[in-house]
Amino acid sequence: MENNIAEYIDLVKKITEKYDSPPTACVHSYGCQLNFSDGEKIKGLVSQMGYSLIENEENADLVIFNTCAVRENAEDRVFGNLGSLKHFKEQRPNMIIAFCGCLAALDKTVERINNSYKYVDILFSPSALDKLPKLISEKLSEGKRAFDVNEYRMPMEGLVQKRDSSFKASVPIMFGCNNFCTYCIVPYVRGRERSRRPEDIIREVEYLVENGYKEIMLLGQNVNSYGRDLDEDITFPELLRRINGIDGDFIVRFMSSHPKDAGRELIDAIIECEKVGKHLHLPVQSGSDRILSEMNRRYTAEKYLETIDYARSRIADFSFSTDIIVGFPNETDEDFEKTLDIMRYVKYDNIYSFIYSKRSGTKAALIDDRITDEQKGIRMRKLLALQREITSESFERFIGRTMRVLVDGTDKKTGMLTGKSSEFVIVRFEGDKSLIGSFADVEIVSAQNWAVTGKIKEK
Ligand code: SAH
Ligand code: SF4
Ligand code: F3S
Repeated sequence: MENNIAEYIDLVKKITEKYDSPPTACVHSYGCQLNFSDGEKIKGLVSQMGYSLIENEENADLVIFNTCAVRENAEDRVFGNLGSLKHFKEQRPNMIIAFCGCLAALDKTVERINNSYKYVDILFSPSALDKLPKLISEKLSEGKRAFDVNEYRMPMEGLVQKRDSSFKASVPIMFGCNNFCTYCIVPYVRGRERSRRPEDIIREVEYLVENGYKEIMLLGQNVNSYGRDLDEDITFPELLRRINGIDGDFIVRFMSSHPKDAGRELIDAIIECEKVGKHLHLPVQSGSDRILSEMNRRYTAEKYLETIDYARSRIADFSFSTDIIVGFPNETDEDFEKTLDIMRYVKYDNIYSFIYSKRSGTKAALIDDRITDEQKGIRMRKLLALQREITSESFERFIGRTMRVLVDGTDKKTGMLTGKSSEFVIVRFEGDKSLIGSFADVEIVSAQNWAVTGKIKEK
């Protein structure tokens, strides 16, 4: 076999077993949940090779940067952190440094690492993730740099994962993206859409639920095109229904939905499947049809709002969140006002807003942009202020309601427990830490502009 993982894992293990103390590894993931899910697979491989995982790179024998390419600041952060590794490597020359993730799929990064970051030992692109044991064994036995930037392909099924949480699990259902939004680098670094087989997904979810996982987050760049590349006739709403049929007490969420493919069938499935969170993340990006067309989003504001209206005709206050890009090249004040109008109309429970970042290689990067950074900053502040106004008002609708919350941590400031409701709204309440990882019923008594606060109902 071309890449016999087990054999390479053994090879590495045999070498590391001879070390005076067990080797350590530090894996840093950046970017979106899909990348963190890859990071969990990398951690799984690294653990199988005998490394124990630590948080700090300083003392690690193996440091892995699993990177993101989506915006310039993500890239700058990675290279900044990579720069500071040089010093550690000088002190401990046996340290192995690996660079992977989305940035590693770009030719210009490979060139940059090759020429200017000689202390990086290993580089691999996202779909070469399962080559890690081979690359480490090559590095350890031959001492040479080992790079693998392969064609986009389906990652292997059945890799052991070391999951970051014991109750929330990410499950990628597909990889890649076919949409080529003009601002976005993802299709270039992740390749075309490849769906996992439904049986494999169901098996993974069943396993997770049996092992006590309470939240299953299905991931894909556009989950609504799930299955289009499979021989089997299956759509995303059908997959949701199948997952909903799995026995157990758990909540199903998913990200992201492209509005051009999110219609009534999807809304019906969300509403009719009792295990699916009553929330839809529907990235609008802009409220201006002119900008949407320049972005190659292939929907208009009107078409987008049809889905919103349909959902709200079934559940009056159906919860939506969105992504918005501020300052797409030559966005006018008028265009931007249309984005604010959509926000006022939909009343999102949450927005993730980003200042446009030019990514070379994308179509939008060729546009001669005349808006200043200052203008973009002003728009962003305006948008955030509006969103705070919207949530402080619209979260009041939850007061008096009992929400079922998956408790996931504590609020640093107040020490209260925190969790997410079915609508994906943050809920805070007083309670014992032992509740983390389980569901609690919380009666909401007040609303803030970023969360709601309540009292736990005794069972
Ligand atoms: N596939 C998902 C999103 C992937 S990237 C979707 O289509 O919804 C997550 C978000 O990053 C995008 O929704 C977009 O708002 C933002 N984004 C992508 N490229 C960007 C860029 N060049 N500049 C600023 N924001 C960007
Ligand atoms: Fe990027 Fe558009 Fe694909 Fe999302 S759908 S990953 S924004 S190209
Ligand atoms: Fe995700 Fe960033 Fe890659 S957003 S898919 S890690 S470019």
